[in-house]
Amino acid sequence: MSSSSTPPSTPAVAASDAAVSVGSAGLPAARPRAAARPAKFPDGPAPDPAGSREEHRIRTFHARRGRVTDAQAGALERHWAEWGVELDGSPLDLAGLFGDPALPVVLEIGFGMGDATARMAADDRATGILAVDVHTPGQGNLLNLADQYGLTNVRVANGDAIVLLRDMLPPASLAGLRIYFPDPWPKAKHHKRRMIQPAFLALVAPLLRPGATLHCATDWEPYAEQMLEVLSASPDFINQYGAGYAPRPDFRPMTKFERQGLAKDHIVHDLLFTRR
Ligand SMILES: C[S@@+](CC[C@H](N)C(=O)[O-])C[C@H]1O[C@@H](n2cnc3c(N)ncnc32)[C@H](O)[C@@H]1O
Repeated sequence: MSSSSTPPSTPAVAASDAAVSVGSAGLPAARPRAAARPAKFPDGPAPDPAGSREEHRIRTFHARRGRVTDAQAGALERHWAEWGVELDGSPLDLAGLFGDPALPVVLEIGFGMGDATARMAADDRATGILAVDVHTPGQGNLLNLADQYGLTNVRVANGDAIVLLRDMLPPASLAGLRIYFPDPWPKAKHHKRRMIQPAFLALVAPLLRPGATLHCATDWEPYAEQMLEVLSASPDFINQYGAGYAPRPDFRPMTKFERQGLAKDHIVHDLLFTRR
């Protein structure tokens, strides 16, 4: 299901097209609307759904081109109109999107190839998963997995998660937020691109219901330390594990980036916080 009636298009390049704009106070700035680019693939995700190409912005993700396989393209073609959501900045009706006003909805930002997303959605079909990424091959892969697993509780959103958080969701609409292995941006000059920082928490906190869980995981130790520091300092969240990291929860399946980190002997940290 798209937030607009005609779903625009799909290239292998969507990752380069969305980003975060940060204003002088460190919060995302107002976004001027620009005309959307013409569609390359009329039945799939759009290259710049929010029309924000001209916006001055800081990206939290790498601009990476990925080849869309035939299987992924087929899944996009079959399922995008029904399960796809364009992050175009217009208000999103989650009850309408999932067809069930009572369904709690958890947002996952940066699902990558979506293997863990699909597994978790299959393990808990009483929760709606709104999964966001800019990576077209991953969007196709997740749609394929949702189809294979017979899932009705997954929606795949295309675009910059910051647009969703900033412009599209009503207060207290989310029952949880998952951010697994966000881009670590290891160089000091790129730290401003890291997602977990105070301005981001200020943006998400009002959208999370009291009692909602914010679950982060990373294999990049300095980023884990930053996450723990920033989350612990936030008045809106409380650590479910005292002052430290959470033990690895059984319910979180291994992700592709986690596997890559472990192969490099990185230590993985989970952080589980509750919205006050
Ligand atoms: C390092 S990958 C991790 C993927 C997956 N969670 C895993 O563990 O395999 C980070 C993902 O977050 C996505 N991402 C980063 N910033 C984003 C944003 N602002 N909006 C949407 N997706 C974003 C990237 O496109 C990328 O697919």
